[in-house]
Amino acid sequence: PYPLYAELRKTPVARQEDDTYVISTYREITDVLHNPHLSSDTRNLSHPTAGAEEQTTPAFINLDPPEHDRLRRMAMRHFGPPHTPGLVTGMEPALTDTVSGLLDDCAGKERIDIVDDFAYPFPVAVICHLLGVPREDEPRFRIWVNDLINSIDYDPKTDPKEKLDKGVQARKDLRQYLGGLLEQRHGGQGGDLLSRLANDDGPDGRMTDEEIISTANLLLIAGHETTVNLITNGMLTLLRHPQVLRRLRDEPDLVVPLVEELLRYEPPVHIIPWRAAYSDITVADTVIPKGSRIMLMLASGSRDPNRFHDPDRFDPDRRDNQHLGFGSGIHLCFGGPLARRETEIALTELVRRLDRPGLVADPPPYRRSPVLRGPIHLYVEQG
Ligand code: HEM
Repeated sequence: PYPLYAELRKTPVARQEDDTYVISTYREITDVLHNPHLSSDTRNLSHPTAGAEEQTTPAFINLDPPEHDRLRRMAMRHFGPPHTPGLVTGMEPALTDTVSGLLDDCAGKERIDIVDDFAYPFPVAVICHLLGVPREDEPRFRIWVNDLINSIDYDPKTDPKEKLDKGVQARKDLRQYLGGLLEQRHGGQGGDLLSRLANDDGPDGRMTDEEIISTANLLLIAGHETTVNLITNGMLTLLRHPQVLRRLRDEPDLVVPLVEELLRYEPPVHIIPWRAAYSDITVADTVIPKGSRIMLMLASGSRDPNRFHDPDRFDPDRRDNQHLGFGSGIHLCFGGPLARRETEIALTELVRRLDRPGLVADPPPYRRSPVLRGPIHLYVEQG
């Protein structure tokens, strides 16, 4: 039940010693995320953080209007309903095939790791497919993504400098690789996202190559680990609620509200670690001065009893489930339809194909990250 969040919510807007303002209640989080004086651009912080990017072109998650809106619109129009013709709708067979292939490889094994054997390889394969990365390059791609994401996690056992160096190298390699791929796509007719972005003139014109590469990088970072964690948190939650797991076998349509409830109850993204105040902002009678850093506790907001009835209960029949799992406001996750569909297919097939699954360790070991929450391994025994 996350007692720390309950404690935090007693002070909805809490000022820390370093002038960071921590916001933990549903109403205040949504108010702030919809405030036009809020910036996602690190350059607007009075004390930029270590994570302030060295990238030449920041991706649109780190930009404000009008640049953010232009780039987001240009990427979004390829992405799926209601922005048809959608890549997501067209990807259904690829999603199902990938899931089947991974589960075929697990068949007959007494013990599987839901993370390494399934949840980890799945979204990388999906993003490769989306971008048009050839199959034979996938293993290299996977290593870069891994190094990049590990460099963001906190783990006291490994040397942070070594991990950061690996992350910087991976970022460079990935950019170079994507640049090469993009060059081949210019003038082509392919239906993949890189080809579409390179050749398609929409109402906003065309992205530059730099902008395309930053966008592709963003999709990778924003779309991989998050989906891994949603699938893994989902399987863990189902194994802890065997009656729901049994229901899902009999009522496949339950998976849609179930994934929505997971995004509220065990979301992959717990925190938006920073936003900057463009000018003084008043939230719940507290004035947050211009240039301050604002931290938004999304997972706490999704468990706020003033917004959700019996919030610590996992209830796939819950109505009015406007959780904060994908954020809110102009930066609302745009991979939502894809992430939902991936997780729906993954959980449906896991539950259908695993034979009397049981948890080996509860709780499982968790990834050490201040922002993302999910097990690093989830061992399940069958039969
Ligand atoms: C933004 C969560 C999957 C692409 C966000 C934000 C959250 C989030 C909380 C808001 C960040 C902010 O306001 O600063 C998640 C979760 C996912 C998921 C929980 C999986 C369960 C994906 C996927 C993709 C994706 C699969 C793409 C393939 C993006 C992008 C943004 C974003 C591009 C930035 C949007 C903008 O700045 O306008 N996501 N995401 N996400 N997400 Fe996701």
